[in-house]
Amino acid sequence: SAALTTLTPATLAAPAARKIALGYDSPFPADFVFGVAAASAQIEGAAFKDGKGESVWDRFARIPGKVHNGDTPDVACDHYHRFDEDFALMASLGMKTYRLSIAWPRIYPKGDGELNQAGLDFYHRLFASMKKHGITPWVTLFHWDLPQALEDRGGWTSRVTVDAFAQYADTVVKAFAKDVKHWITLNEILCFTLLGYGTGSKAPGRKESNKVVNQTYHHALLCHGHGVRAVRKHGGKGAQVGLTDNCSVAVPVTEKPADIAAAKAWFIDRNAQILGAIHAGRYTDNFLKRVGADAPDVQPGDFDLISLPTDFLGLNIYSATYVRAGKAGPEALPTPVNYPRADSTWLRLTPQCLYWGTRLSHEAYGHQAIYITENGCGYDTEPVVNGEVFDLHRRDYVRSHLREVHRAISDGVPLKGYFLWSFIDNYEWEDGYQRRFGIVHCDFATQTRTPKLSARYYSDIIKERRIL
Ligand code: NOJ
Repeated sequence: SAALTTLTPATLAAPAARKIALGYDSPFPADFVFGVAAASAQIEGAAFKDGKGESVWDRFARIPGKVHNGDTPDVACDHYHRFDEDFALMASLGMKTYRLSIAWPRIYPKGDGELNQAGLDFYHRLFASMKKHGITPWVTLFHWDLPQALEDRGGWTSRVTVDAFAQYADTVVKAFAKDVKHWITLNEILCFTLLGYGTGSKAPGRKESNKVVNQTYHHALLCHGHGVRAVRKHGGKGAQVGLTDNCSVAVPVTEKPADIAAAKAWFIDRNAQILGAIHAGRYTDNFLKRVGADAPDVQPGDFDLISLPTDFLGLNIYSATYVRAGKAGPEALPTPVNYPRADSTWLRLTPQCLYWGTRLSHEAYGHQAIYITENGCGYDTEPVVNGEVFDLHRRDYVRSHLREVHRAISDGVPLKGYFLWSFIDNYEWEDGYQRRFGIVHCDFATQTRTPKLSARYYSDIIKERRIL
């Protein structure tokens, strides 16, 4: 719409200011981070061990019909007991950076109140093992496993959760400041708010009004602020912190200026609630106009916290929407039925999502550093044949997406790293164990790990630091 054009995007580095010109096979910059990612509830298992409290996913998974096949996160990859061998495998594949998350209910089984020392001890053992294997942790404070006890007190609809998170963040950052220098506050706010409290497809499965859902977003933003505050206060020298957001990405239908401008306007409009608000230090007029009476309640001082400066932005990007300049403004195009997709039906295969997602975000908000904190693809049946898994579709996915990373860097986007989701097949939330995102195959019956062809392929890329 016309109002969008009143926003002034930061300008992308002019071609003359570009530091590198990457050819098709030239190496990634020397400081570019290649990583793999996973999250506590999806791989740890040991869901009730050593004092861990129940999480909203432990509860949700037991409601008939909510999760494919009734799968629960009870055992998952049993990483809780097998992390040392998992890190040995990771190291043997040359993977030196690993994004993981801490399970809040292990640390505070009830969300706040009594601390569970056994939970802290587990992560001390885990970080020691990573160190032994030469792997650097990037740690997400919250990746969806909210303590059920907090949900019982209102969950993300209540500021009780914000206060509890502030305490949890202080405790965790203080405890692991020596081991962890890269912190991510929250993972994908949209998923645990809108999908958890709006559509109800994710835990806790509630269907609330738009007003309530907007309030859950606001509380999540406050927690992001508390995460930043905690890292600044307790993180020690050199600690860095950022948010991981799953922004909506627009790919311009052509790269003519009018379509690019339309894509940019659509991007800014669609991401107003999180990235726009953090950047502006308030809810933007356009956003407030759109939500009207459903606008979240904001208390004095909230935005001081929400807009605390961060060191980087993490983006989880898997997919995109095509946008073109229409007569009345940006037009998002419908996806044809036969457009290529992974088995995860939401996952349309559009590699350019990484180029445009990072470029548009940088143009809109002017970041110091962007990391792709997740990118990958979910497929169902992947048999092990004589010790091998020929996941050529995933190999192609990695290759085509890394080419777009390469292009973004070459065009001056401060894109500093890429984390492949996921290291190992794991609990894919409401899709259970059927949908596999790993580059390492997990036989959930025997807990046997088998690196897939894509793991070998990514391993070679990491070694040579170029697209192969
Ligand atoms: C987003 C989430 O952060 C992660 O937990 C999930 O498994 C992947 N994307 C794939 O859906």
